[in-house]
Formats: sequence, structure tokens, C-alpha cells
Amino acid sequence: MLMRILVMVSGSGTNLQSIMDALTEGRLKAQLLAVGADKPCLGIDRAQAAGIETFLVDPANYPDRAAWNRALEEKIASYQADYIVFAGFMRIVDAQLVERFAGRIINTHPALLPSFPGAHGVRDALAHGVKVSGLTVHLVDAGVDTGPILAQAAVPVLEGDDEASLHERIKVQERRLLVETLAALGSDLKRQ
Ligand code: GRF
Repeated sequence: MLMRILVMVSGSGTNLQSIMDALTEGRLKAQLLAVGADKPCLGIDRAQAAGIETFLVDPANYPDRAAWNRALEEKIASYQADYIVFAGFMRIVDAQLVERFAGRIINTHPALLPSFPGAHGVRDALAHGVKVSGLTVHLVDAGVDTGPILAQAAVPVLEGDDEASLHERIKVQERRLLVETLAALGSDLKRQ
């Protein structure tokens, strides 16, 4: 059976685009069920342009974090995805949501975890003066960027790098590794 994936985004959606391209080109065999976001963003535009179903679960429409988490949890559950891919989804979900989809939520983070977790991984790594950074594809657990690591790639920091230039080189690797990791998970699913 074809792996069923749901992708969550918040930003420019270039990781999503790499998934969609890999699907089109047959490098990734999966069914992209829908793309969700917490707000209107370029990622949603990309999905719509490709004719993929989209949805928004915007925290501004809920009285508190718990209500937003429950709404997102139900929305995600409705798709019955094998994997939920947080591809630049910049929200922290609560423990109940993580538990419901335990081992099935994948996140990509632009630093070599466990170093530099959180929303500013690239900036924090640069500020620390690291000579090598990179990215991590990992399973989401109840912590922030603490879940089991699935794949990593190193990216050297170059002289004169700023946050934008380093992040862009990291994202080139990130787009590749996210697709490769999903493809490997898809093959594992087939074997089960
Ligand atoms: C990625 O580097 C991701 O790791 C980080 O935000 C970026 C999202 O980029 N959390 P995009 O929206 O896929 O272009």
C-alpha cells in the first residue's frame, strides 16, 4: 500500500515543494493527502497551485492553546495518514497530540540536534561560533526538537556566513534528506 502522508507548513514551503517534486518525478512513492498550516503562507499557495487539498487551523480562532491543539489533533486524525510531516511548521504541539500520533510525526530542524533546538537553530549555531552545522530529520516527541533522530547531514559554516546564507545552504540539504527519509520510511512500511 502507498504510504499516506500529510504535510504541515508555516512558511515558504520549499521543503513541501521538494516532496511534491519527488512525488511527481517518482523518486518518492506516497499519497500526499493534504497540506495544513497555522496561517496563510506560501506553502499553502504551493499546495493549492499543485491541486492538493489544504486546510488552516489558526490559533487566532481558538480561545486557548488546548482548544487549538484539540482542533488540530482531530483534523490530522481525519486524514488517517501514516506519517505527518512538519516541514517548517513553526508551532509546538502538546503532549496529547504527540501521543495520539506517536512515532508518526516527522520534523525537520535546521541544526545538528541535540545542539541548538528551538525556533532559531541557525542563528544560535552561528552565535555559538560552530564551524559545522547542518540539519536533523527526527520524530516528534513531547519535548521541543528532542525526539529520536532519523537522519542528519552536516553543512560547513563558511567565512562571512550570516543567518540567511547558512540557512539557505542548510535548506538545500534539508530538502534532499527529508525526501530520502520519507522514501526509506515508505519502503519500511511496504515490508511490514
Ligand atoms: C526549514 O529550514 C525548517 O527546518 C525550518 O524552517 C525552514 C522551513 O523552510 N524550521 P520552508 O518553509 O520549507 O521553505
